[in-house]
Amino acid sequence: MNVEIVEDYQALSATVAQRVIDTVTRKPDALICIAGGDTPLGVFDVLVRASEEGNVDFSRAAFVGLDEWLGLGKADKGSCREMVWGHFFSRLTLRDEQICFFDGLTTDPEQECRRVDRFIAGHGSIDIIVLGIGMNGHIGFNEPGAAQDTECHVVDLDEVTQSVSVKYFGQARDVKQGISLGMKTILAAKSVVVMASGEKKAAIVAQTLRSDIDASIPATLLKAHPQVQMLVDKGAAAQL
Ligand code: PGA
Repeated sequence: MNVEIVEDYQALSATVAQRVIDTVTRKPDALICIAGGDTPLGVFDVLVRASEEGNVDFSRAAFVGLDEWLGLGKADKGSCREMVWGHFFSRLTLRDEQICFFDGLTTDPEQECRRVDRFIAGHGSIDIIVLGIGMNGHIGFNEPGAAQDTECHVVDLDEVTQSVSVKYFGQARDVKQGISLGMKTILAAKSVVVMASGEKKAAIVAQTLRSDIDASIPATLLKAHPQVQMLVDKGAAAQL
């Protein structure tokens, strides 16, 4: 896995955003997936600014969500939908058909998975996917022990993920399951970027880079991809 270390969060956000801009410049109708969570918030800011300044044109691009907490919708603070819409989609001028995002309030999660699979298949595959890495090495909600042959699927959330979730919601919420793109879909993306920031991620970043492919650290499954790049700031690189 190729690793690039940059100075700080600002540089990390700018570098990852530039990867997205380059993708859209090369392929205006690119299908883009950017994770929710705290790590990509700076990327969203850079991309919104680039769009406002005319440095990127998303008018023909499409976006697919990475994951969502089952049972939470856009009115729930900290849901992936609330975060990605609030920080990104609502700040751009996009048409509904450009966005496909998991509905965490669905009464039929399996159907919801197939809907998202169909959207991705309709575009061929994802052109660039920007991922965070969980404290347990999860990628999206592909938790430790994740299978490698999954498309969109329902996931039982790991205890680490459940306990970390408080930081998004501001309170404990009963989230036991998620819905996520699977490793097969992620590995089919043409370009995969994993970003990590801060010393709290230093241990899992080091474990991921040192370990062979091992489903107990799902991020290592990305090593099967020829175009995967991990971008970290100095804090997240502290144990390398
Ligand atoms: P974070 O989440 O960006 O909020 O640290 C990463 C993840 O759990 O994938």
